[in-house]
Amino acid sequence: MGAVVARQFAGNQQGIDVAQGGMQGLSVEIFSACPHASMIKGLGLAGFGQQQITRVNTLENSEQMDVDHLSLLLKNSKAKSKIVIASSATVTATSFDDLEAVSALCQQHKAWLHVDAAFGLFERVVTGKEGKTKGIEMADSITLDFHKWLNVPYDAGAFFTRQPSLLVQCCEVDAPYLTNNEAQPDFLAMGIENSRRFRALPVWFTLLKYGREGIKEWVQRNMELADELANWIEQRSEFELSVPCQLNVVVFRPYSKHLSNEQSDKFTTLFLEQVNKDGKIFLSPGVWQGQKVIRAALSNWQTSKEDIALAKKSLLSCYKMLVSE
Ligand SMILES: Cc1ncc(COP(=O)(O)O)c(C=O)c1O
Repeated sequence: MGAVVARQFAGNQQGIDVAQGGMQGLSVEIFSACPHASMIKGLGLAGFGQQQITRVNTLENSEQMDVDHLSLLLKNSKAKSKIVIASSATVTATSFDDLEAVSALCQQHKAWLHVDAAFGLFERVVTGKEGKTKGIEMADSITLDFHKWLNVPYDAGAFFTRQPSLLVQCCEVDAPYLTNNEAQPDFLAMGIENSRRFRALPVWFTLLKYGREGIKEWVQRNMELADELANWIEQRSEFELSVPCQLNVVVFRPYSKHLSNEQSDKFTTLFLEQVNKDGKIFLSPGVWQGQKVIRAALSNWQTSKEDIALAKKSLLSCYKMLVSE
C-alpha cells in the first residue's frame, strides 16, 4: 500500500492519475537506505521495479540512514517526484532513522515519506513521543505489523496515511452489488483485498484486554531481556556481538575472529543448526556487513528471565558440542 499510495501521490504532482490511466510518463526517484524485503517486493508489484531504488548511505556500523547523503541525493535528483522510504527499525541492526531530519528534507523537496515501522512503532509505547520514533508523526504513510509485537496471529497489519483520499483513489472501483452502507467507511475502497477475513478482531481484543500498559510491560521486558542477553554475549569468549543491541534483536555469531570469512560463515551456520536442533530456543539467520550472523529476536509476551537463562545454557552447550567434535 505504501508503494501504491506514494505512486498515486507522485502522479497527482505531475497531473497523471495512475490508478485510472497507468504510469506512462511518470517521473519518480525512490530513496532508501535499508528497505525491508517486503518493501522491495512492494516496489516491484507497484511497477517501479525492485531495482529502482537509489541507495542512501548508512552511518558507520549501523543501518541508520545518513541524512546528509539523503539531502545531497534529493538535491541532485532530476526526477519530478521523490519518494523516501525510511525505517523504524531495520530488520537486522534494528536501526531507527532520524525521522525529524528525514521528514524535514522530505517537506523541503516535496517528497513522499513512507516509514516501515513494522516492529519499531511499538517502541513508542515504552519511550513515548521523544523516543526512537520521534518525528514519525510527520510521515505520509506508515506500516505496522500487529502479528509481531502485538502477538496476534499472522497476518494482521496496519497501514496509516495522512492522505486517505489517495488510498481511495487507488482502491475504489464501481461494483454496485458490493455497495456498502454509505454511513460507514468503505474498507473495500481502502485496501488491496476486496474479500478479507476479520483480521481486526484479534487485534481489537488484544488492545482491549491488555491496553497500553499491558503491551508496554511485555515490550519493555523483551527489550530489557534482549539487552541482558547482548551484554552476556559480549562478555563471553565463545561469542561475539556483531551490533550493539538497540531494541529486541541480538545479533551475534560464535567467536570467529581467527577464522577466514568463509570458515566463519560455515561455523556460524553449523552453530545455528545445532542450537535449533537442540530445540530449547529458536534463532534465525542474518547477514551483517557481508558475513553470516545469528539473530535472537525476542517478541513473545511470555518471554521471561528464565527463558534467557535457558538460552544462555543452550548456547554454551551447543558451542561446546561443536568445538569438541
Ligand atoms: C522491518 C520490517 N518490515 C516489514 C516486515 C514485513 O513483514 P510481513 O511480511 O510479515 O508483514 C518485517 C518482517 O519481518 C520487518 O521486520
